[in-house]
Amino acid sequence: MTQEELFKKLVAHCKEYGFVFPSSEIYDGLGAVYDYGQNGVELKNNIKRYWWDSMVKLHENIVGIDAAIFMHPKTWEASGHVGAFNDPLIDNKDSKKRYRADVLIEDWLAKQDEKIQKEVDKARKRFGEAFDEEQYRATSPRVAEIAAKRDAVHARFAEALNASDLAELRQIILDCEIVCPISGTRNWTEVRQFNLMFSTQMGSTAEGANTIYLRPETAQGIFVNFLNVQKTGRMKLPFGIAQIGKAFRNEIVARQFIFRMREFEQMEMQFFVKPGTEMHWWNEWKNTRMAWHRALGFGDDNYRFHDHDKLAHYANAATDVEYNFPFGFKEVEGIHSRTDFDLGNHQKFSGKKIQYFDPESGESFVPYVVETSIGVDRMFLQVMSAAYCEEKLENGDERVVLRIPAALAPTKVAVMPLVKKDGLPEKAREIIDNLKYDFVVTYDEKDSIGKRYRRQDAVGTPFCVTVDHQTLEDGTVTVRHRDTMAQERIAIEALHAMVDEECSFRKLFRKLNL
Ligand code: GAP
Repeated sequence: MTQEELFKKLVAHCKEYGFVFPSSEIYDGLGAVYDYGQNGVELKNNIKRYWWDSMVKLHENIVGIDAAIFMHPKTWEASGHVGAFNDPLIDNKDSKKRYRADVLIEDWLAKQDEKIQKEVDKARKRFGEAFDEEQYRATSPRVAEIAAKRDAVHARFAEALNASDLAELRQIILDCEIVCPISGTRNWTEVRQFNLMFSTQMGSTAEGANTIYLRPETAQGIFVNFLNVQKTGRMKLPFGIAQIGKAFRNEIVARQFIFRMREFEQMEMQFFVKPGTEMHWWNEWKNTRMAWHRALGFGDDNYRFHDHDKLAHYANAATDVEYNFPFGFKEVEGIHSRTDFDLGNHQKFSGKKIQYFDPESGESFVPYVVETSIGVDRMFLQVMSAAYCEEKLENGDERVVLRIPAALAPTKVAVMPLVKKDGLPEKAREIIDNLKYDFVVTYDEKDSIGKRYRRQDAVGTPFCVTVDHQTLEDGTVTVRHRDTMAQERIAIEALHAMVDEECSFRKLFRKLNL
């Protein structure tokens, strides 16, 4: 199965099993907007809890807030979003399809890496066990040729992005002979800038109404509350403010399911530091955030950092945490050193002094900011991509299992009476009553036990508990483990403690060493 086929199956699975639905589907959906179903919302809430607790509970110097989506319009002038929150767009005149010029070039660059990898794979086959990949990469003329071309284009691309040179972006597209995936032609328009913010009107009449924006990032709600939190919380530098909330961007090229949406959710933490210490904290947060991702156990090699070619208008250093999705390594999270750009500009635009008084030095200054910013939906897609697994079993059966880490799994336990009589359903309900205050638990009595196991595997439930006639005699049940399919007999009294240990966030948090 190709990665593309795998991804298609994953998207279909998300819908079939109540994780993600297209928004307003009965009206044929709305582009790049999605709803989360009964299982999706549980997974999403667990992801948010993993993030929130790791920030706010495990750091004494980080507190949370929940700011409004609507903000004073001046916010977005001060933040630079009115002037600079643009994507470079290009249209293909034959297909009439619109693309992001930078994405077309990035895809071309990624293809060069794939070409190199193919050369390496071919050589490995040819040379067998004696193959030395490092030496081959360093000496193969074909690899050198592709790499040189890629590096030259990459250098031009980075320069054009940083200079916002739209004509040069177009020229790179032409020089690389990039074609429209729909029409297959190179009949491109000029490249234009397009602002990504959604706007609406505030007030009951159009006259005198104020244009306001739906926030394109949650961060600004934190910046404008910096003084409120610092003063009321008596916070001392360095300290952080965390927030989870919706953000909106009028993405023109919405792709890859919930990877790029027009309405999405962010988990952002702004860490305020003394000027001059920001690079130290930027590196610290890179390590902390990478450890958070890796603790989920999806394989360390599936993550990497990717430094930005073009720094956003507010940043002096920026990197992405990328995950190896079925469609390649792509950004899940950004870690940005934002200098004093935001607080400094809000001070300028509002006319209010936004400074920190350092009791040690007796000085006042505008703090610098290091932010960690991750999309809930992208994290959701990461978990689903990593967890989705099709397996052939020893008896010839097949199963689809979601190997979601137990703490994040939507349902922790499915309780199943072997038959719908003889007091077994009643006993199963008793067990549920004993677990339901602490865990999401479900009851299932329909179909054979085997079919019920498959249903729970497909939504990632870590434990199935079967109640049978022996349960009535000796108070034990069969616990079947999702990943290994191993079964064990345990006492009903021991169930709560076992589920608590296996599904707790404690297990994950311990790995973070915070
Ligand atoms: N405050 C900084 C900021 O917003 P960003 O790199 O534009 O930085 C941060 O966004 C994260 O938000 C991304 O790494 C991604 O996970 C998520 N994100 C951004 N745009 C998104 C979109 N259109 N759909 C889904 N997630 C998105």
